[in-house]
Amino acid sequence: MKITSIQSLEILDSRGKPTVRTFVKLEDGSIHSSSVPSGASTGAHEAVELRDGDSKRHLGQGVLQAVANVNTVLAPLVVGMEVDQLKEIDQKMLDKDGTGNKGNLGANAILSVSQAVTKAAAYTANKPLWRFLHDYYFSAHSAAFPRLMVNVINGGKHANWNFDIQEFMISPSTTQPSEAVRVAAEIFQQLGKTLKEKKLQTLVGDEGGYSPLLSSNEEVLETIKASAEKLGYSLGREFDFALDSASTEFFENGSYVMKKTGKTLSGDELMNYYQTLRSTYRIISFEDPFAEDDWAQFQKFTAFSNDEFLTVGDDLYVTNPERIRRGIELNATNAVLIKLNQIGSVSETAEAITMAKQAGWKVIVSHRSGETEDSFIADLAYGAGADFIKTGSMSRSERLAKYNRLIEIENGL
Ligand code: PGA
Ligand code: ZN
Repeated sequence: MKITSIQSLEILDSRGKPTVRTFVKLEDGSIHSSSVPSGASTGAHEAVELRDGDSKRHLGQGVLQAVANVNTVLAPLVVGMEVDQLKEIDQKMLDKDGTGNKGNLGANAILSVSQAVTKAAAYTANKPLWRFLHDYYFSAHSAAFPRLMVNVINGGKHANWNFDIQEFMISPSTTQPSEAVRVAAEIFQQLGKTLKEKKLQTLVGDEGGYSPLLSSNEEVLETIKASAEKLGYSLGREFDFALDSASTEFFENGSYVMKKTGKTLSGDELMNYYQTLRSTYRIISFEDPFAEDDWAQFQKFTAFSNDEFLTVGDDLYVTNPERIRRGIELNATNAVLIKLNQIGSVSETAEAITMAKQAGWKVIVSHRSGETEDSFIADLAYGAGADFIKTGSMSRSERLAKYNRLIEIENGL
C-alpha cells in the first residue's frame, strides 16, 4: 500500500519541551503516527536533535525547523513509496540528509517519519507492531519478554544532582510483564512509605523515581533493599540492582569528580568503588560506569567482570553501529543500551541490535529522560527479543505507557 501524505507537528514531551510527532496517511485513508523522545544526559556522539535555537519561542528549544524538514523535504521524498519498503525509505532519508550525524535534517525529523512509517507498515501487514518488527528485522531470534530495569531513585542531571549516580534501578527476576510490573510497583510504593517515615521527600525526578536527600549511594541501595524486604522480597531472588552512572556528566580533565562527596577519583579508583558496591549489593549491571570516550577503562572493567555482571555502553556507543563495531573489536563491554533517537532511524537501530546480539552481548532497549506517550520501544524490546527494557519508574504515564504496552502484548492484545 502506498503512502499518500506525511505531516508533522510540534508537540511537547514529558518535560514540557517541544518534540516532533509525525502522521503518515495511506491509500486506504488510515493514519498512523509516532513521536520521538529527547535526552538530558546526552552523549557527544549522538545524532543531531535539531532545535530552532532562537531564544524567544520555548527558550530556543522549538522544533519547527525539524517539523518543516519533515513537511517540505522528507514528505515529498517518501510520499508515493510502498509503505513496506522500510529500509529503502530510511536510506532515502539518510541520503537526502547527506551527513554522518543527521545534522542537516535532524535525527528527530528523520526518526519520527521512520517510526510512523513502521507503524503504518505493521498495519498493512495486519500484524501488531512487535510482530512486524520481529519478522522484518529480527527473524533470526525469537521474540521474548525483556526483564525490566526500573529506575526507582533518580539522581544526577535528572534530579538536580542529589546523587552522582543518575539511576538506581531494580530489576525483577521474572520476565512475565504483569508480574514484573507488580513486584516493581509494590517495591516503589513501599519505598515511598519508607521515605515518608524518614521524613524525606517523595517528589519524583524526570524518570518518575524518587529523588530524596539521602546521604550516600549506599544509603539509597540500603533503603530500597529494606523496603523490598518488608514485602518479603529479597535481593538476588525476586530482584537485583542495576546502576546507570551516566559518568560522562561528572568526568573532568581525565578524572571523575564526584559532586556529592567532593572526591576526585581516577578510573581505577572508580572501578574499585563499583566493585565494593557490587560485592555488597549484588549489582548485575553497570551502565556508563566510565566516560563516553574512556575506552581503555571500559575494557579493563569488562575484562574484570568475567561476564559475571554487565558493563553497558550508552553514551559510549550512542546506538551507532560503527561505535558498536569498535566496542566488539576492543571487548569494551558485554552489553549495549539501545535508544532509537541516538541514531535516528529504525533500520539503523535494528542493525545495532543485531550486531550486538551476534557478538553475544546483552541488549537493553531504553527510553529517554524526556518521553512521550508513544510506546514504540515496548514493541521493539519484545519483537527484538531484547534482554532488558529500561523505561523509568512506576510513576508518570509516559513511563507506564511502555510497561502497560508490555502487559497488553502478554495478554495477546
Ligand atoms: P537521558 O538519560 O535520556 O537523559 O540521556 C537516560 C540514560 O542516560 O540512560
Ligand atoms: Zn544511560
